[in-house]
Order: sequence, then C-alpha cells, then structure tokens
Amino acid sequence: MDKIIVEGGRALTGEVNISGAKNAALPILVSSLLTDGLCTFSNVPNLKDIESIKLLLSHLGAKIETDGDVVKIDASNILNHEAPYDLVRKMRASILVLGPLIARLKKARVSLPGGCAIGARPINLHLKGLACLGASIELKHGYVEAYAKKLKGSEIYLDVATVTGTENIMMAAVLAKGSTVIHNAAREPEIIALADVLKKMGADIHGAGTSAITIMGVSSLSPVSVSIIPDRIETGTLMVAAVLTGGDVKLLGAEPDHLEAVIHKLSLTGAKIKIDGKNIRVKGIDNIASVDVKTLPYPGFPSDMQAQFMVLMSVAGGLSLIFETVFENRFIHVGELKRMGADITVAGNAAMVKGVKMLSGAPVMASDLRAGASLILAGLVARGKTEVNRVYHLDRGYEALEEKFAGLGAAIKRVKE
Ligand code: EPU
Repeated sequence: MDKIIVEGGRALTGEVNISGAKNAALPILVSSLLTDGLCTFSNVPNLKDIESIKLLLSHLGAKIETDGDVVKIDASNILNHEAPYDLVRKMRASILVLGPLIARLKKARVSLPGGCAIGARPINLHLKGLACLGASIELKHGYVEAYAKKLKGSEIYLDVATVTGTENIMMAAVLAKGSTVIHNAAREPEIIALADVLKKMGADIHGAGTSAITIMGVSSLSPVSVSIIPDRIETGTLMVAAVLTGGDVKLLGAEPDHLEAVIHKLSLTGAKIKIDGKNIRVKGIDNIASVDVKTLPYPGFPSDMQAQFMVLMSVAGGLSLIFETVFENRFIHVGELKRMGADITVAGNAAMVKGVKMLSGAPVMASDLRAGASLILAGLVARGKTEVNRVYHLDRGYEALEEKFAGLGAAIKRVKE
C-alpha cells in the first residue's frame, strides 16, 4: 500500500489545473448505457473510481476505449444485467447502473452496496423511486433484483434529497412512458451536468438544479460527445490548502459558481479570493479567523469539504463549530487530526474546534477519501513530517493530488510499497 509523506511548513504558490469532477463523471459514464452507439466523454479524471465504473460497464457488455482524459463507450451490446458484489463493494456509486439497466433491459440485478465508513448510506429512496416508475423490486441474497414490463412516468417524492438517488431515478425516467416529477430532488451541479448530457442524448428534462425535476419519457436516446465539468471538491480542497499554508495559488479551469458556500466561508476566514472567469486566485493571510460551518445539501456547504475545512479551523485564531448534517459518521478524521495536535471535541453531529498555534507531523491513516485529503492538508501546515497511510482512498477521487501539491512547492512524495 502506498503512503504519502509530507514535510510541512511551505507556502503553496503558483498555478494548478482543476480536473474533471469524479461525481459528475460517474453518472455520466453510466448514462451511456441508455444509448445504442458510441459516446465520447472528455475531461474524465484519471481515478480509481473511474476505473471501477469502467470495469463494471465492461462487465455489462460495453466496449470501452480510454485515451488520456477521453473515454469512449459503446453500449450497443449490453447483454448482462448483473452488477456483482465484487465490483459494487469497491465503489458504492456502482448502484447508478440500476436505473439505466431497468430502463434499457427491463431487468437488473445489482449487489446492495452496504454501509461505509461515513454512514449507513441506505438506498431505500433509489428503490422507492424506481418502484414508483413501475419496477418490481425484491431484495434477495444481498442483491437488488428489479424487473419491469414497462416503466411508466410517476410523481415521486424523496424524503431526503439524495444525489445518486435523483440520478438513478432520472436515468430510468428518461425512457419511461409519460411524465415523471421528482419532488425534493437533489440540486447539486452534478445533477445539472447529468441532465444536460441526457438532454443532449434527446431526453426531455426540465428543472434540473431545482427541487422539482420534470421528465417526459422518450422512446430512445442517441449517443453524445460531452466534456465533464470541473471538480468543485478538488477546487475547494486546493483553495483550503492555499489559505492554510499562507500561500498564493491560482486555480485554472474551475467553476466558481459551484463553490459559492465554500468561497463565502473561506472569505470569512480572511482569505483573499479573486475570481476571474474560470480562474480563482486564493491568497492566505497570517491570522486565519474562526468560522462556523454546517454541512447541507447543495447549495449549502458540502459535506465533502467538511474535513478539509476542519483542518483550516484547527489552526485558526479562535473557536469554530462544525455541524455535519448530511452523514451520521463523518468525523473519523478527528482522531487522526488530534494526534497531530488539533484541539477538537465532538458531541453528536457537532465538532468544536479550538485553533492551535501549530500542528505537528505524525503518522496517520486515511479512513475515506475526504478524510484522507484533510490529513494531507494537515501535513502541509504541520511542523515536521507527516506520513499518510492508506492513500488508496485518495486515489479513488483526487487526480494526481501529490503531484499538484508538489507543483505548487509542497515537499510531498509518494512512497510505493
Ligand atoms: N439517503 C437515504 N436514503 C437513500 C439515499 C440516501 O436515507 O436512498 C441519505 C444518506 O444516508 C445520507 C443522505 O441521504 O444521509 C445524502 O446522501 P446521498 O444519497 O445524497 O449521497 P450519495 O448520492 O450516496 C453523493 C456523492 C458523495 C457525497 C454525497 C453528498 C457521488 C458518487 N457521491 O453520495 O460523494 O458526499 O452525495 O453530497 O455522487 C465523495 O465524493 O467523497 C462522496 C462521498
């Protein structure tokens, strides 16, 4: 297992390119299952999760070619309707094939993803939505088994605005007969990105990005060529790094409109943020102000940025309260940050972070993707050496993160084992 070693204390400076968004690329690659013919996707990030979804799509019968950041998928011959446990357990987002398989083949057998480090993460609302469209669904031997003679549009209300749930239902509804309305739909930019791709394929979708998405089913969809939107969480992570190290970093090819909450909170810390079209310049300051944060579905502050923001608050000038309301167990990084000298107290879904003068480098372990990123950030600002173990979590969702940090002047390297 690889490790990342960081020698802290260097201010990050320079320019860095933002990669394509993992959480947009995953459903968009899967949407190729809805078409007959060759889809071309560009700006696809080179990540373990993207490898996993390509493996699953090949398993289903899709022909896939990758050339740099371009992925071509021909799903003309989808013969297999099963997503096996071995592929799904590696990545929960594999559940995204459920909707398209039911729409395309009228049957699907997909392993239940189970819980994960950050929470129980049920898929009841994915199943409820698909059942409303007419699928009969059974849970057998750890699998979701779904059949439908035909899918029929319906009114669907989601108790929680689930991101992948909304995507799954949207991908099934585009080929259903008649009209579907998803109420309390997720409003994340990745939902809009998927809807844009489906519309380009010929789907009739209105309201993506609002909490009511209306879909009028069509009889077939055509292949498309599209580019993946920039990764807002990678952008936010790099912005925090710039502030944390008192650096001066220009992020190129970002989408500032997708980061309003993060930009707002970072500005309140005193950081200087300048937006120029698709570029964002972030300058740190000497005394970081403490700011409270509550994670919420978009357009609120993203849960995927909570761990990184907590690191910043660990070295800020006062007391900060951080509330995690999206996932029930997303403070696992706290224990590791405390080992580096952070002063954090957790009570339920709240963390009280008392800024300290200095973190100190230590061997630490990543427990999930964003927790892993937070430990690298802590290492960048800590005195001495930090060794981040289990970096395979990072490789799932950050493209060449240590190379990007090294390019900005960090003393960081990967040690292969
Ligand atoms: N939920 C239910 N029932 C469901 C589905 C979700 O109760 O059927 C609950 C979850 O347990 C959670 C809340 O709803 O408490 C929100 O979960 P959501 O379904 O929106 O999360 P997701 O779709 O599984 C996506 C991202 C996550 C990101 C969350 C929240 C992808 C592939 N994953 O997950 O990304 O944290 O939305 O924004 O889009 C990451 O990239 O590190 C990551 C975990």
